[in-house]
Amino acid sequence: MDLSVVGAGHVGLVTGACFADLGHRVVMVDNDAKRIAGLKRGVMPYYEPGLEELVARGTRERRLTFTTSLREGVASSTILFIAVGTPQKATGEADLAYVEHVARSIAQCLPAYRLVVEKSTVPVQTGKWIEHTIRTYLRRKLPFDVASNPEFLREGTAIQDFMKPDRIVLGVESKRAKDLLVELYKPLGAPLVITDINSAELIKHASNSFLSMKISFINAVAQICERAGADVEQVAEGMGLDPRIGRPFLNAGTGFGGFCFPKDLEAFIKIAEQLGYDFELLRAVRTINEQQKRGFAAKVQQALWVVKGKTIGVLGLAFKPNTDDMRYAPAIDVIEALQAEGAVVKAFDPQAMREAARLLPKVKLCKDPYEAARGADCLAILTEWNEFKELDFKRLKKLLRQPLIIDGRNLYDPARMKALGFRYIGVGRGRVPLPMRGGAAD
Ligand code: UGA
Repeated sequence: MDLSVVGAGHVGLVTGACFADLGHRVVMVDNDAKRIAGLKRGVMPYYEPGLEELVARGTRERRLTFTTSLREGVASSTILFIAVGTPQKATGEADLAYVEHVARSIAQCLPAYRLVVEKSTVPVQTGKWIEHTIRTYLRRKLPFDVASNPEFLREGTAIQDFMKPDRIVLGVESKRAKDLLVELYKPLGAPLVITDINSAELIKHASNSFLSMKISFINAVAQICERAGADVEQVAEGMGLDPRIGRPFLNAGTGFGGFCFPKDLEAFIKIAEQLGYDFELLRAVRTINEQQKRGFAAKVQQALWVVKGKTIGVLGLAFKPNTDDMRYAPAIDVIEALQAEGAVVKAFDPQAMREAARLLPKVKLCKDPYEAARGADCLAILTEWNEFKELDFKRLKKLLRQPLIIDGRNLYDPARMKALGFRYIGVGRGRVPLPMRGGAAD
């Protein structure tokens, strides 16, 4: 099939590259000329495991092409995916200006029937507005369809998520649109959920908000664990074995970040409000997440007694492992709070150093975990990269000024850390220990 994907961001580029890999001809359209020029040379705009190879293969085999001209994409493709950004406005609602602009531009160059599919995460009823916009700006009467096909891929595992999805949601309101999308997705062999457009849009917002709620729930339970003397990891294990609950997304930590959950949560609260419903539950999810980030900074402060003038070594800056993305990363809030108290922060992240240099200019960036630990008063773990799981702890202990690890991702076993001579503080892992004579902890 001939497809166009408008917007070469995280969702758009992965979608385009994967469809090309499945044998379709895909035109990637983006108005950022630098990004398109880079992609033509094989330069990825962000880090995503496996993407570079996929793009290279698609380009080499001429199934994947890049252009800044929307007209070119519309001319050559039957299915047009809109995957442009829907950033957050100051009010919390989703900014749909890019989506509207693309819809209007498509209308102005529509040559014949096209199926316009929204892939960007959008509030419910956006599809109706896209349809209305195209109809309003069409130069002559031409048939077209609008559909919603939300994407559920996660950064870091995006290609695998695309190729092996749990489900494919198709919000379609005509047989022609349904047949085209069913045919397109057939090779993936995944369960299809076929709905109306509004329901498809809601599935995406409701899913991301539900997952955010799961995380805030376990973070709230972690607070109880710290006060009562229980281990949230064991609690999550015990809860998660119930198939009605499930273990994924029950990892307590420094809160959720990234460009999806915080933004989609806000947008869902906002659209609910506009529709006359106060989604109190989701407002609580947001509050707990903010408290969790602040609470971690407070924990570091408590553990060090006075933070001013102390050096804190941070491991992990990206909002989660296997990405260089630092948008809404909890590390930013935690580090800024500690810096505001007068701490000196040194940090290492396997992928996000370039982003960190831009976003956290006062942080001293280190070449590896050991340099981050050298001369620091504690080591704070903010992203659960695999390579942090096994470190040379004896070496770290020698490098640190005091053997203190404050683990925002519960990466280590408290008993092992204690045996290694560390004072170890996790999230929701028993009462927060106070320092003891001799430095090691209870
Ligand atoms: C999320 C969803 O998981 C995808 O299904 C969705 O398609 C995507 O948003 C999107 O809307 O585009 P992503 O933002 O890439 O994907 O990252 P997640 O793996 O979901 O993690 C989000 C945040 O939650 C991270 O900060 C992570 O550290 C945190 N998290 C996750 C926890 O704190 N605990 C957990 O148990 C799981």
